[in-house]
Amino acid sequence: MIEKRVLLIVSGGIAAYKSLELTRLLKKQGIAVRAVMTESATEFVTPLSLGVITEDHVYGAMFDLKEEREIGHIQLSRQADLIVIAPATANILAKAAAGIADDLATTILLATDKPVLAVPAMNVRMWQHAATRRNLAQLRADGMAIMDPDEGEMACGEYGPGRLPEPHAIVERIIAMLGHFASAQTLASQPDFADIDHRPLYGKRVLVTAGPTHEAIDPVRYIANRSSGRQGFAIAAGAAEMGAEVTLIAGPVHLVTPPGVIRIDIETALEMQAEIDKALPADVAIMVAAVADWRAADVPEQKIKKAGKAPAPLALTENPDILATLAKHKQRPKLLIGFAAETEKIVEHAAAKLAKKGCDWIVANDVSGDVMGGENNAFHIVTKDGVESWPDSPKDVIARKLMEKVADEIGES
Ligand SMILES: Cc1cc2nc3c(=O)[nH]c(=O)nc-3n(C[C@H](O)[C@H](O)[C@H](O)COP(=O)(O)O)c2cc1C
Repeated sequence: MIEKRVLLIVSGGIAAYKSLELTRLLKKQGIAVRAVMTESATEFVTPLSLGVITEDHVYGAMFDLKEEREIGHIQLSRQADLIVIAPATANILAKAAAGIADDLATTILLATDKPVLAVPAMNVRMWQHAATRRNLAQLRADGMAIMDPDEGEMACGEYGPGRLPEPHAIVERIIAMLGHFASAQTLASQPDFADIDHRPLYGKRVLVTAGPTHEAIDPVRYIANRSSGRQGFAIAAGAAEMGAEVTLIAGPVHLVTPPGVIRIDIETALEMQAEIDKALPADVAIMVAAVADWRAADVPEQKIKKAGKAPAPLALTENPDILATLAKHKQRPKLLIGFAAETEKIVEHAAAKLAKKGCDWIVANDVSGDVMGGENNAFHIVTKDGVESWPDSPKDVIARKLMEKVADEIGES
């Protein structure tokens, strides 16, 4: 696999120290990082610290004869697949928007033809200032990707948008922009796995979907369901622990991405379908997501207004059947597993679904209690050979058991 390379520009904000953690996480995903710091950034974090983590020289000076001769500003950009500015100060964004190139970082930004992702972090007033809004609009129009900052308490004591997003969220965005798939090699070197020797899915590609979908009714309302995403995330974590290369396509949930898992966030069933197509081929697909069966037939651009006493008419149209579509796909995974959330006649309905959808196994669970969002789950695994019923267990325990069964089925093939 070709290693992806990020050129990380660190500018002078209070969050500059987070560039160390960001670099560490990127390297863990098998992404090489070379760093450039603005002069102000060196007031917040030392080039020595960043250099130790990147295991490389940290670039800063434009008129350093040795640096420019060995690897100049053009080459720094040429050697990267993606340029990331994190944190991006209001100042560097303003300079980039105006095309100012008065130090190495801004000269690279003007000279590059590579995609650029800016991750702004600043005081809320700076973020909301008309000048910053203008600069961001200009940069977006110029093709720069901008990641919105998080909302929360700031170093200065104020509250609002402006915090640097968590490094793992930045990594996810970078991975999505690079179209990067973590290599099994990379995963093998990760310290976070329970039993590093037990890797029966080493080299296998596993695709997992999780969580609900949100289907817009108008710009502010949507159709959703109670899926928490926890079972799907636990299955993705179990697959990664066993050495698989895992892509997790997740609906809107607030869960931490398991180590070693590539996560792609979506909102709607149609987006999920598109991301599944992009993630193929895979050896195994486990479709845990509770995908909405229907979406609104028309989504108006403006909020629907109350007209009188009668409820607003809501016309629905069917979403694509993701599981059945994947079963007929020319790149159908060798092992295709569907989930059936049922409230009655659990096994009977699951057996019917197995026949109808064309998948290999159906994992049926009774969601009439507090399974959705709860800690535990009980599975009935319905295959063409019969039904296996597993007792109520914590979601991570039952997820590992399921992945052991998957490994038995395809591990040696
Ligand atoms: C303690 C301190 C913290 C700062 N934090 C930020 C910040 O989080 N975001 C920001 O845009 N500017 C921040 N600034 C202002 C920048 O450091 C200043 O605009 C500087 O010129 C940025 O230079 P650069 O964009 O070349 O790195 C901070 C300044 C100080 C003194």
